Amino acid sequence: MDLVTKSKICQQVVEEAMRLYPPAYFIDRVNIKADSFNGLDFEAGANLLFSVYEMHRHPDLWEHPNEFQPERFNEGSRKFSSQYFPFGAGPRKCIGNNFAMFEMIIAISELISIYKIHPNFEAIDITPLITLKPKNAFLTFEKRNSC
Ligand code: HEM
Repeated sequence: MDLVTKSKICQQVVEEAMRLYPPAYFIDRVNIKADSFNGLDFEAGANLLFSVYEMHRHPDLWEHPNEFQPERFNEGSRKFSSQYFPFGAGPRKCIGNNFAMFEMIIAISELISIYKIHPNFEAIDITPLITLKPKNAFLTFEKRNSC
C-alpha cells in the first residue's frame, strides 16, 4: 500500500493509458421505456451503446486528445469525472476498480525496476474485441545492470 500511494506518476501513466486505450471501450444498456433525447427517439428495449473510446478522445472535452500526456492527471482523475469512465460510472461502476489500479501500479513498478522497456513500433494499432487489445505493441525488455 505504501508503494501504491507513493507511485503518483505511475498512477497518472496508467490513467492516461486507459484514457487513450480504455480496456472496456464501450458500455451498453437496455432502454427500459420509450424516451427521446436531443431530437432522437429511443424505443423500449433498444440497445444503447456508449463509446468510452470516443468520449475519452473527444476534442471538445480534452486538450490535445490524441497525445499521451499523463500530467493531465496530476490533480487526480476526479477532475474529469463527467468525461472519463475507464471503470464505468454510477451504481454499476466496476467493483474491482481500486484493486485493478493497485495491481497495474505494482506490476508496472516491478517490471520497470528490473527492465528498461523499449517500444518496437511507431504507433499502436487497436484490435477491438470484447475488450480493447493492442495489435502491434511489441516491446523489447532489456535487463537493467543492477539486477
Ligand atoms: C483494468 C481493469 C478493469 C477494467 C478496465 C474494468 C472495467 C469495468 C467496467 C467499465 C465496468 C462497468 C460495466 C458496465 O457499466 O456495464 C466493470 C464492471 C465490473 N467489474 Fe471491472 N474492470 C477491471 C477490473 C476488474 C477487476 C480486477 C474486478 C474484480 C476483482 C472487476 C469486477 C467487476 C464487476 C463485478 C463488475 C460488475 C459490477 C456491477 O455490474 O455491479 N473488474 N468493470
